[in-house]
Amino acid sequence: MPGFTATDAMVCALMITLRVPQLPLLALPLLALACAPKPVPTEAPREPVAEAPAEDAEDAAGAPVGGSIEAALAGAHRSEGNLARDEQRHPMETLTFFGLTPEMTVVELWPGGGWYTQVLAGTVYGAGKLITTNFDVNASTDPKDYRVRVGTAFADMLKSSPIYEGVETVTVTDPKSLTLAPEGTVDMVLTFRNSHGWVEDGTATMIYTAAFTALRPGGVLGVVQHRAKADDDRDPKIIADSGYVREDYLIETIEAVGFKLEEKSEINANPNDTKDYEKGVWTLPPNFQLKDVDREKYAAIGESDRMTLRFVKPAAG
Ligand SMILES: C[S@@+](CC[C@H](N)C(=O)[O-])C[C@H]1O[C@@H](n2cnc3c(N)ncnc32)[C@H](O)[C@@H]1O
Repeated sequence: MPGFTATDAMVCALMITLRVPQLPLLALPLLALACAPKPVPTEAPREPVAEAPAEDAEDAAGAPVGGSIEAALAGAHRSEGNLARDEQRHPMETLTFFGLTPEMTVVELWPGGGWYTQVLAGTVYGAGKLITTNFDVNASTDPKDYRVRVGTAFADMLKSSPIYEGVETVTVTDPKSLTLAPEGTVDMVLTFRNSHGWVEDGTATMIYTAAFTALRPGGVLGVVQHRAKADDDRDPKIIADSGYVREDYLIETIEAVGFKLEEKSEINANPNDTKDYEKGVWTLPPNFQLKDVDREKYAAIGESDRMTLRFVKPAAG
């Protein structure tokens, strides 16, 4: 284990044996966790860490995790760059609006680099369960293949901290036959900035159907998505090519699967987003696809205007 010497091991063993008085009793299981060899998660489903006490839990770096969204946001497993985006992504307000609580079983669809995974895993750590999708990293033998690169980076992130120990991964080979979890076993499915891709490639209905099946009756689907102009009457697939989706179109698509829109929020709205850029939504931060061209202008606009939608799977009958 890099950086973990024989001396460290002896100190850990000694501290655990002597139950160092300064350590709160509840922190001992976490100390043992920090001292244990680094876990190597596999693709196989695993149970969450059941023993971790929600209130006093600490991660390996000593930051509080678990028990609340707030504690997860303060976790040391989050990078500086990710922390910096809290101001624009509003994770506390967004996840509170969706009704996330630590004991829930949650699915995150298409996590990409895992910005929200870090927050969700920290929130449910020791109490609930997080299931995320990932690419099929065996889809190609070329290490430069996008799916291999992004999928491997995400899998590596899940090995980087004990916080991810309970995270299950569903490998997506074909969205048409996507099973996220046994039917009716999930409390909440979340998706951030992915719907344009699904509208564009024609998989939106399939993926939202998979979410509907996995959710229990009364379960919540939370959607954050770059929002097109309300009067943009072009083909939704053409609009989606620039990263945006019209709000009424997305609501209609999701309700057609069986969901009911419960509430909308303007937490992630940005009235400065003019939605008419050369490189679509990727012109804005965090992508800045035009690189140095008008960078200050786009930085001043900020991240895109986003809809925030909470749907519910109606109770049967
Ligand atoms: C626009 S990004 C949004 C990422 C993330 N949801 C967020 O908001 O930070 C869409 C991402 O979905 C990822 N993606 C596509 N298929 C995926 C899959 N099967 N599992 C996980 N991520 C996937 C892509 O790599 C891309 O990074």
